[in-house]
Amino acid sequence: MFETSIIEIEQAALENNLSFIREQIGPERLLSSVVKGNAYGHGIEEYVPLAEDCGIDHFSVYSTDEAQRVFEVKQPRSKIMIMGSVDDGGLAWAIDNGIEVWVFELERLQKAIRLAEDLGKQVKLHIEVETGMHRTGFESKDLNQVAQLLEENAAHLEFTGLCTHFAGAESIKNYYRIKDQIKEFKRVLRWFNKHELKPKYRHACCSAAMLRFPEMMLDMVRVGILQYGFWPSMETFIEYTKKHSHREPLRRLISWKSHLMSVKQIEKGEFVGYGTSYLAQRDITMGIVPVGYGHGFTRSLSNQGRALVNGTRVQVIGTVNMNCVALDLTEVASPSKGDEVTLIGHDGDLEITVASFSEAVNQLNYELLTRLPSGIPRVVK
Ligand SMILES: Cc1ncc(COP(=O)(O)O)c(C=O)c1O
Repeated sequence: MFETSIIEIEQAALENNLSFIREQIGPERLLSSVVKGNAYGHGIEEYVPLAEDCGIDHFSVYSTDEAQRVFEVKQPRSKIMIMGSVDDGGLAWAIDNGIEVWVFELERLQKAIRLAEDLGKQVKLHIEVETGMHRTGFESKDLNQVAQLLEENAAHLEFTGLCTHFAGAESIKNYYRIKDQIKEFKRVLRWFNKHELKPKYRHACCSAAMLRFPEMMLDMVRVGILQYGFWPSMETFIEYTKKHSHREPLRRLISWKSHLMSVKQIEKGEFVGYGTSYLAQRDITMGIVPVGYGHGFTRSLSNQGRALVNGTRVQVIGTVNMNCVALDLTEVASPSKGDEVTLIGHDGDLEITVASFSEAVNQLNYELLTRLPSGIPRVVK
């Protein structure tokens, strides 16, 4: 292979996770698969068709460029929703292609309506309301104008969604903040109802909110991290498994594999790699793997990270370089150039989880996954 590592994606694991999510949300509710951040590192081009094979037909992205990537590979029946950034050009493209967009400012709402009218199409709008996250969303004071625009321009738009986002449902420390948001969102839903403006979908829940505040699943949920086989936080994992006989229902889709590029002996008393951070305390066998911080194997794993080689767990030694990392292979039975190295995933009975990886450097699963460069080939198994 030309590439220095590959990321494998396991379809059976995705089927497992999606059926877990389905169990939580019921058969009728719309499940939007959140594929922003390059499908949380899994690769939009590989992930979207796979998810479609498992019955997904709605995808959420953050920006127009991500929407375009989904658009290129999706089936005609699948829908795309942009939750964040769209400039004027992007908006015209979105309207022309039936892409759903969140609007959270009067200016964008007016522009979307005008563009739809010019294009002779209907814009599919999700009205995001501010309930306490304080990121984006219409303030209460804007709602009269929003309602008026929706009513007056009904011919040029579809009121596809009324939505909000919670400010950290994965952590109990935000419990009261989320409860206040729920109260506020319910008030806004009643307000729209009173004005006889009925969205196709009311939605608020991400993975953690779906698990913790199931009464808020409404008509649609936007699920990211769970579908990839990860919990939004340790808290949500413990909370769920405690209630469900300690069974882990999720499976990781991703494995990250490379190979030994060179193997050699290092004598006791020699330093390995840049600087003096690793001093061989005995004669060791050392292997070099062509994956470094430039590939998402963060520098904080210097002298800390682990990998699996020929069924043995081994330690990173020295600092992680831009393009490579050194491993202590002394305990590995006859390691040789070309042997597979597992950076994330299983080798026999052993496993390197993304969590063990990210906890070592205090990184969120979300961050580690989305930092895996898009240049690493993704292979579906
Ligand atoms: C608006 C919105 N909805 C849903 C999600 C999905 O979140 P999760 O991956 O925790 O399910 C995100 C992700 O950050 C988001 O920004």
